[in-house]
Amino acid sequence: MISSGVVAGSEQAGSCLTPAEMSLRSARSDICVCDVWERLGGPETLSCPQRVCVTVSWNVPKMSEVSQVENGRNALRKKPLSEAAKLSVAPMMDWTDRHCRYLHRLLSKETLLYTEMVTAPALVRGGARHLLRFDPAEQPVALQLGGSDPAELAAAAVMGAHEGYPEINLNCGCPSDRVQSGAFGAILMQDPALVAECCRAMIAAQPAEVTVKCRIGVDDQNPTEVLPEFLSQIVAAGVERVTIHARKAWLQGLSPKENRDIPPLDYDLVFEMKQLFPHLHISINGGVTSIEQAAELLDRGVDGVMIGRAAYHNPTDILQRADAVIYGGEIGPDPVDLVLQMRPYIEAHLADESRGSGKLSQVTKHMLGLFAGKPGARHWRRHLSENGHRDGAGWSVVEDALDAMNHAAA
Ligand SMILES: Cc1cc2nc3c(=O)[nH]c(=O)nc-3n(C[C@H](O)[C@H](O)[C@H](O)COP(=O)(O)O)c2cc1C
Repeated sequence: MISSGVVAGSEQAGSCLTPAEMSLRSARSDICVCDVWERLGGPETLSCPQRVCVTVSWNVPKMSEVSQVENGRNALRKKPLSEAAKLSVAPMMDWTDRHCRYLHRLLSKETLLYTEMVTAPALVRGGARHLLRFDPAEQPVALQLGGSDPAELAAAAVMGAHEGYPEINLNCGCPSDRVQSGAFGAILMQDPALVAECCRAMIAAQPAEVTVKCRIGVDDQNPTEVLPEFLSQIVAAGVERVTIHARKAWLQGLSPKENRDIPPLDYDLVFEMKQLFPHLHISINGGVTSIEQAAELLDRGVDGVMIGRAAYHNPTDILQRADAVIYGGEIGPDPVDLVLQMRPYIEAHLADESRGSGKLSQVTKHMLGLFAGKPGARHWRRHLSENGHRDGAGWSVVEDALDAMNHAAA
């Protein structure tokens, strides 16, 4: 949590936009960031005469580092986010939920983790604050938001920062229909001025670092023209870190899944962007399948590498050596130790009465790939898949899955 002392706003709070100014861009100009802060018990010194604003001034430096729990112990260390962002696990809907992130954090202490995309309307209009829940052990973890209304995104960013996320990432890369209908995601590549306005509003409203994840373009856009323009607009808005999924998105005709494979990757363009914007922290994303490949891309000159599917399907291969290969740290636990380390977390989840008790499979579905490529892995996966969802399934299912695997491998 951010204490109100840390984020005390300035007396001459912000250059509030009037409702009329906001309606230039925002169809829903009734959102007031100061109201959101107040509801959350935020800075006491906020003043917002118009009761409708998107900008608030801060006396304190922005959060560009995060306090991290040191290896399960309670000691905290400060870590710059830009350093953590040398490697990140991509935001992935239905995959990178808090259980998945907890697992990934046990494998790598250093890698930056992202939430699934949470839409600003769900947070601000729907009051879905439970979507922000995370375990402090997951840090550094960034919240990804979807939206295109500056005021609404600013309000959602306030909620995220208040919850303790040190980074708020704006999704400009997701091509799904649902996302297009809400006019956010990859379609925003067509309106860099609006993206810049959204970023400005989010940056002004709260202290967490604001970053963007984008494509190189959409549909028949020319990436060599569109991408530099897009980046220069968000840089002018104050964004210092961006992740570029190095392929176009086709908004018509391709499914979201096809949009992750069919449009060709153009890593060279991302490297050109690094030349053009040397002060912008640029992470490259798309098609990275090993930690060695990530290290090579870093050597070639990008500041960060984001890995999605490979990290999810094969977490051990990607993340166990991430700290050693990318950050000069130690190798993470072997997968059997990791499974055993998950026990207290799983048992706490199963006993979580406040949420109607958790199901084993909600955690173990993310553990299926831990032994990928190892003898007996199929038995591990099958036992968990067939038994993890059953009523009353508990820790013994995990132990039995380990036994089944060891037995098959013997
Ligand atoms: C199941 C799934 C869900 C995804 N959800 C999101 C999302 O919520 N936000 C986002 O920006 N990208 C999302 N993506 C895209 C990934 O973040 C990433 O950009 C893409 O998978 C390419 O990286 P990769 O080749 O390393 O997987 C998703 C990808 C997958 C496979």
